[in-house]
Amino acid sequence: MKRTLLLFALLLATTFSAVADKGMWLPSLISSRIKDMKSKGFKLSAEDIYSVNQASLKDAVVLFDGGCTGEIVSEKGLLLTNHHCGYDAIQALSSVDHDYLTNGFWAMNHDEELYCPGLKVHILVRMEEVTERIAAGETKEQIIAKAEAEGIGYRAKVESMYYGNMAYLFIYREFSDVRLVGAPPTTIGKFGADNDNWIWPRHTGDFSVFRIYANENNEPAEYSASNKPYTPARHFQISTKGIKEGDFTMIYGFPGNTQEYITSDAVKYISELSDPLKIHFRTERLDIIGAAQAQSPKTRIQYAAKQANIANAWKKWQGEVKGINRLGTYNKKLAYEAKFRKENPEKAYLLDSLKAAYERNMEGYFNYELYSETLRGIELQQVVAIAKSEKLSDEQKQAAAELFYKDFDVNVDRQLAVAMLKEYEKYGTFISEELKALFAQHGGAEGYANWLYDNTSLSTLEGFNIESAKSDAMAEFAAAVAPIQQRIKAYTYRNFSNIPDIERWFRPYVKALMEWDKKRAFFPDANLTLRVAYGKVAGYEYADGEWHLPQTTLEGIIAKDNPEIYDYNVPQALRDAYATKDYGRWGVEMYGKYTVPVCFIATNHTTGGNSGSPVLNNKGELIGVNFDRTWLSTMSDIEFDETLCRNIICDIRYVLFVVDKVGGAGWLIEEMGL
Ligand code: ARG
Ligand code: GLU
Repeated sequence: MKRTLLLFALLLATTFSAVADKGMWLPSLISSRIKDMKSKGFKLSAEDIYSVNQASLKDAVVLFDGGCTGEIVSEKGLLLTNHHCGYDAIQALSSVDHDYLTNGFWAMNHDEELYCPGLKVHILVRMEEVTERIAAGETKEQIIAKAEAEGIGYRAKVESMYYGNMAYLFIYREFSDVRLVGAPPTTIGKFGADNDNWIWPRHTGDFSVFRIYANENNEPAEYSASNKPYTPARHFQISTKGIKEGDFTMIYGFPGNTQEYITSDAVKYISELSDPLKIHFRTERLDIIGAAQAQSPKTRIQYAAKQANIANAWKKWQGEVKGINRLGTYNKKLAYEAKFRKENPEKAYLLDSLKAAYERNMEGYFNYELYSETLRGIELQQVVAIAKSEKLSDEQKQAAAELFYKDFDVNVDRQLAVAMLKEYEKYGTFISEELKALFAQHGGAEGYANWLYDNTSLSTLEGFNIESAKSDAMAEFAAAVAPIQQRIKAYTYRNFSNIPDIERWFRPYVKALMEWDKKRAFFPDANLTLRVAYGKVAGYEYADGEWHLPQTTLEGIIAKDNPEIYDYNVPQALRDAYATKDYGRWGVEMYGKYTVPVCFIATNHTTGGNSGSPVLNNKGELIGVNFDRTWLSTMSDIEFDETLCRNIICDIRYVLFVVDKVGGAGWLIEEMGL
């Protein structure tokens, strides 16, 4: 082992001792946390969580659709995730005639389960540190190629941890025959929609049910009618015993992106420039889409998933800015940096170098974000890319275009183009000569946008033609945008700090922090790799004198019931169950009433990607499905605060109640072993 690596390993060992609930830990290193976990009530061993020698809990956790988490709950590959994670798939299977979003969907046997084209899940085979292999000269590509050759359906990735101080290989099995088994109606799965999103108290039944299929040897395979339900190495046992304040909770999933170690400059960029502008752009887009959806049921379905995606981060960023200001994160970082400088004068140059690197890269990164939020949102340019694709056959191009137009309304896109081109004209400093010229020819961005939509013949599927698309006005626009894309390429990283020119200074800086700040719990920032976080069920003080309890019930759903408002129109089946108190085995006494538990909150450190993650009790049994954080928490990607930050979980008993009483799918309850 090289000396520097040894030193780094020692640092990890000594710093893995903090007691806060903060942190997202690598499962293969969880033995260094197990003492703390046990002191908080955890009953299992590190090997139960992650093992390469035997089946362990990790075999029941999946990366769902490349950005969410799911958990296997039966020996036949039955999978739970969030409704909002299955949303794209459910929407793609829906039409005005078969509106599974509005009405829900329940297969009553395997034959009724619906294949979801393009939907993939990944199950981790193992992870291992490859820092030394890379130091010894092996390339990432070589490591990946070797790993993928090990087994059928293997996909590998090498990810850096602690800004490149460590590297890990992750080997997954990739399954591409995944089928929809059940989904509650939107008025349960997305109950409260954007209004309640990021809010506690919450009453959303944010779950959906899928199944993984495999070939006759239980291996990953393309869709085939002859595929069989996948037999997992391990599935989660479900606990219906319920939870109470203070109970140990653990979450196992794929958090996407945190920025725990960024410096004050980056905090300022996020809270003063990036978030506020992105919020502003998205407000405009949401106003346009929302107005069109209110006019037409067809547009409402077509733009449902797009609208939800735009609205989600829009609201999150608002909470994030508030949270950063509330905690004084910028000033805290400044003070921390000043202390570091004072106590490590010989390393102060690292902060200077970081500052200079941020300055060098800021305009580029800003233009990248600006492009993503404005130009990229103009959807019609996608059909030009389809027509010009060198990978697709003509038949595939036609199919891709049909898929595109299914969820496209040219009047919405025109309005979006007018608004976003005007914004780009205002802020874009990486604008191309070509786009500038087009603006100039038509009296500015607005005139150009209108001209563009008056002159394109690609407005509808009927007008789409592979050959003429290549010379359409929209193709001219796409060509004018291409040089901008070319220029921002250097900045398209996970976040501002991952840009190589910045990261190269973060590497020695974070290492220096670890050598210096022995009391801090240094977890590697989230990067969509498998992590464990743990904490407890806990209420919190929402505002002065206002304590929020950790559990909601059916009473709250009925209290919000309003047939006039789409998002609060409780399904009749729930009203009926409430009226007759017909809760079957899912009814409980709570807050002095006979009711059904719905959601709860805990102190688990989570972020986007943790959606759908299994939330487990101290015995590793499934007690809920994670789906959100509270609005006061969303700054936890940058600063986690245990007194405020809470993740929001759909109680497994509500999931089962809905499957049983609303879906009438008792066969699934039985399959889950209950
Ligand atoms: N806030 C949750 C998450 O970040 C749920 C989002 C889905 N719901 C919505 N209304 N967009 O994914
Ligand atoms: N809903 C988020 C997701 O899609 C999880 C909430 C969060 O950001 O914590 O992953």
